[in-house]
Amino acid sequence: MKICVVGKGGREHALIKALGESPSAPEVFCFPGSEAIHELEGAGRVDATDLDSLIEWMTANAIDLCVAGEESYLVTGEGLANRCATAGIPCWGPPFAAAQLEASKEFAKEFMQRHEIPTGAAAGCADIGEAQAAIGGNYPTVLKFDGLAAGKGVAVCPDKATADEFLNEVMVERRFGPGRLLVEECLIGPEISIFAAVSGPDYLILTPARDYKRIGEGDEGPNTGGMGAVASRQLADADLMARIDQEIVAPTVAGLEKDGLNYKGFLYFGLMLTVDGPKIIEYNCRFGDPECQAVMPLVSGDLAKFCLEGAKGNLQPELLDFSEGWSVCCILASAGYPESSRADDVISGLDQVDEARVYHAGTKKIGDDWATNGGRVLAIVAGGETREEAVGKAHAEAAKVTFDGSQRRADIGIMHF
Ligand code: AMP
Ligand code: GLY
Repeated sequence: MKICVVGKGGREHALIKALGESPSAPEVFCFPGSEAIHELEGAGRVDATDLDSLIEWMTANAIDLCVAGEESYLVTGEGLANRCATAGIPCWGPPFAAAQLEASKEFAKEFMQRHEIPTGAAAGCADIGEAQAAIGGNYPTVLKFDGLAAGKGVAVCPDKATADEFLNEVMVERRFGPGRLLVEECLIGPEISIFAAVSGPDYLILTPARDYKRIGEGDEGPNTGGMGAVASRQLADADLMARIDQEIVAPTVAGLEKDGLNYKGFLYFGLMLTVDGPKIIEYNCRFGDPECQAVMPLVSGDLAKFCLEGAKGNLQPELLDFSEGWSVCCILASAGYPESSRADDVISGLDQVDEARVYHAGTKKIGDDWATNGGRVLAIVAGGETREEAVGKAHAEAAKVTFDGSQRRADIGIMHF
């Protein structure tokens, strides 16, 4: 089996490692990939520069399965999955119309309202005046740019001053380009990330996770792409998982079917566990990053065959097993992140890591050394039977890896609900 994974970050590194470890022993390629993915995992390089050339290359190289790691290509042009369908290549990733669940927050909100899936109340706005009217002086409020904004398009605003500042950046200075804005009710409670593998009407819920979005310990400071994650079946007890399945996942999958959206791939539910029950903050049409790095080590079985069969509309849950226990992922980010980003700091200590998995995100080779390439640099992931054991191991192993300006939250996996 030949698989082509689309993406280049730590999530794709973790996916490729898990696919490569599958008993069906696939040959794995990655586009655009990274030096680490090609060198450390032996993933083949893809001679392509855009969606057109990628489809051509996959056809010419008889690729059996395309796996969408990141979301951008799902909504580029006609969409990766649509183009794969035309070319006759099974794709583990949803078609363009279904991927609007992530690409358009207004589409997602209308979908949830139409199918009566619990979420915060919201209003779509075209300009600052409409937004201010929708806020109506009620703070805190949540403002969301209605498009892909690399995780930076959401502001939880405690007061008018912070709301005005964000509105100005997004609706006047157009930091993310043209687009509408959603004013949303502020939901209160612990967050949890739920992942399902969806194939038409069928689905399988994977191990839940929690990610740590803020740069600073105790959840202080600006949002990032994610500074770490913890994953375990014990993050949510059986009653809560049953409720999440019944009130959130099942109606979402039924809604996708009813709307004829033909969803195939991982679907990520960002949930807030409010006093009124679980409510959706957002959908993402792919695995989470860095949750994927934490979850993958807990998954065994034949992930490659599972994704191939799922992409063909034949979900086979029995192909996967999930370990009990805990997995903790610590991110090492580069100096200045998330406001700015610095590259070229040489990384040392990677060869000392012996009780954790290392996934590369923003790294590059300088001579024989690995160096930072800006943003989030590495994910160090360790497991344990208990949360304490996994936390201890992950942080001890992460501490072995150093580079100038390295940032790591010491509380990853420790804060719990
Ligand atoms: P997103 O970019 O949609 O993942 O949102 C980033 C973060 O903003 C989420 O992880 C939440 O912590 C917060 N957030 C988003 N929507 C809401 C909401 N309606 N109420 C409270 N917090 C929210
Ligand atoms: N962990 C958040 C995301 O992948 O969007």
